[in-house]
Amino acid sequence: MSTTAKEKIEQLRSIIRYHDHKYYVENHPEISDYEYDHLLKELQNLEKAHPELITPDSPTQRIADQPVSQFPSVEHKTPMLSIDNTYSNEELKEFDRRIKRMADIDANTDIEYVVELKIDGIAITLWYENGLFVRGATRGDGFHGDDVTANLKTIRQIPLKLSVSGGVYKIPPIIEIRGEVYLPNKEFQLINEEREEKGEIQFANPRNAAAGSLKLLDPRITAKRHLKMFVYVIGYVEGIKLESHLQCLDIIKAMGFPVNPHAKLCKNIDEAIRYCSEWDKRRRTLDYMVDGMVIKANSLALQEQLGSTSKAPRWMISFKFQPEQAVTRIEKIVVQVGKTGTLTPVANLTPVLLAGTTVSRASLHNFDEVKRKDVRVGDHVVVQKAGEIIPQVVTVVKEKRSGSEKVFAEPLCCPVCNGPVSRENEEVYLRCYNPLCKAQAKRRIQYFASRDAMDIEGLGPAIIEQLVDKGFVEDYSDIFSLRYDDLVNLERMGKKSSSNLIHAIENSRGRDLDRLICALGIHNVGLHTAEVLSDHFDTLDKLADATVDELERIHEIGPVVAQSIVDFFQNEHTREIIKKLKAKGVNTKRLMVGVPQKNKKISGKSFVITGKLEKYSRSDAEKLIKRLGGRVSSSVSKKTNYLVVGEDPGSKLDKAKELGVEILAEEAFDQLTS
Ligand code: IVH
Repeated sequence: MSTTAKEKIEQLRSIIRYHDHKYYVENHPEISDYEYDHLLKELQNLEKAHPELITPDSPTQRIADQPVSQFPSVEHKTPMLSIDNTYSNEELKEFDRRIKRMADIDANTDIEYVVELKIDGIAITLWYENGLFVRGATRGDGFHGDDVTANLKTIRQIPLKLSVSGGVYKIPPIIEIRGEVYLPNKEFQLINEEREEKGEIQFANPRNAAAGSLKLLDPRITAKRHLKMFVYVIGYVEGIKLESHLQCLDIIKAMGFPVNPHAKLCKNIDEAIRYCSEWDKRRRTLDYMVDGMVIKANSLALQEQLGSTSKAPRWMISFKFQPEQAVTRIEKIVVQVGKTGTLTPVANLTPVLLAGTTVSRASLHNFDEVKRKDVRVGDHVVVQKAGEIIPQVVTVVKEKRSGSEKVFAEPLCCPVCNGPVSRENEEVYLRCYNPLCKAQAKRRIQYFASRDAMDIEGLGPAIIEQLVDKGFVEDYSDIFSLRYDDLVNLERMGKKSSSNLIHAIENSRGRDLDRLICALGIHNVGLHTAEVLSDHFDTLDKLADATVDELERIHEIGPVVAQSIVDFFQNEHTREIIKKLKAKGVNTKRLMVGVPQKNKKISGKSFVITGKLEKYSRSDAEKLIKRLGGRVSSSVSKKTNYLVVGEDPGSKLDKAKELGVEILAEEAFDQLTS
């Protein structure tokens, strides 16, 4: 066995662990994705050459390549209890009085509480022996759970090996940590969009999506769901003496676990109550779901004295936020046709205030759902925001029916083109299969012009609607033949907006290949897959000629996606459109192929962008910075190196001046990046 290889492997692993923690736990990466991938590749190569040196805690071992047939059951060392909960401040005060009575504490003495966000996810326990992650399980019935170790290992925030920062604490021989696995709202939205595209049933909320993802038997699929975790309690530990809950949180944080940053020590119950109401208002600013707050007595001696009932500890309580629901009436059910022909029923509602916004439409998902919930036109329904994002109909208030409500029948043909509709391969979604359907064309054009795709500012649904109806545009390649005169007479268009739009269309001709691939609207190909394809093929022509075999050989492209791509490019209609796009000067090659991957002036530096840049869309500028090894963040801090300033800058400019951050106008940014 070569000791140098062994040393090198250990060294690489510890560097990668360090950067994993910086990226996934602290949210403060120190190196670019490119540099990180390079380190990982180096480790993979060394391990390939020395397979005898592979250990389960290596960062390369996060994603197992074998599905399991079922999850073994595990017994919890101590039961995973639940928490008593309340919705009222008065009951929180009663909780404080009860503790004092039981522990013989004077009514006027303050009890310290740690108040935390109650993360709406899935309870998980993690078991470590001598600092190594051995096993992780779900709560199950509280006594036995499912061993979902392989899936948990895909969550980069969960350390496979514990560390001790500052050398203050020792790694205990055994420690069990409990916390919540959750799915960020943004990921939830992406998963649902993808499921809709594929004709699969969507998840009702991020919690269900997280649960579904943890229960997948193939960890390779779980890894793609980008689950996250916050830990909040030590379930069991040997060899450490602890005094307070706050200290527990500090220790597990030092060991490398993700602890939610909003836990607060409150000096008494009144302060705890104030902190709860503060978060009731602030919770929508988070990118994950929080369904309440958890209030925990800080002293471990007091916790022990109070003990637990068979269901829940007596020293903690959860304050649940009021669910964000409202009752309103369905005025009409309309059927929307998506860009791949999917028919979705949507309820038009009597407008109602919900979670701070007025809601007048809600998705009914699919026609099976309408039938299952027996939703009728004229019904009063309970609506809620799933993941606080998409309003949806929860239930029908049947007691409010007058008898005049109308059953909504599943359409037999496309509501727009009257073309045939059907479900293929037992899909839940009904689809219109007419390739010339105007509704689909409109959605495709809308998608083509959207931010992640060709990013044509000003080309929104209302304009597209008119352009297609008036026959100016049949497919997205026709956008590039539009003239000022075609636009200026449209409704809601003036001289200025028409010339702006012409300008935006001109600019978009030069977008990078990944944007174009994404914009084409190939079934099952979103921005991420488009980036992978662009990096691999460099030109649209090469991608169009690729075979299923060739595509499947690319890491991250599976058989379904490969087939979709081949089907797309074999289609006569598609070939015509692509010919037209090229004839109109749309770029079909990968830009920046020759650009060095790293640039000294940019690598490792942190950028913030404010205002509108002339030459770049926001995401192009971000991409350029990342490609050159820099980082982009959304707010200015002391750590920001450069603020790139465009037209109409926001308050970030003042903040940067205040902090003495270097300010770059667009030309200076150009110079720096070239
Ligand atoms: S402490 C005895 N802290 O809420 C249970 N739980 O509704 C100890 N939860 O089962 C849990 N955020 O899954 C605790 N900051 C937090 C939490 C939290 C979410 C979950 C947990 C628990 C459920 C009860």
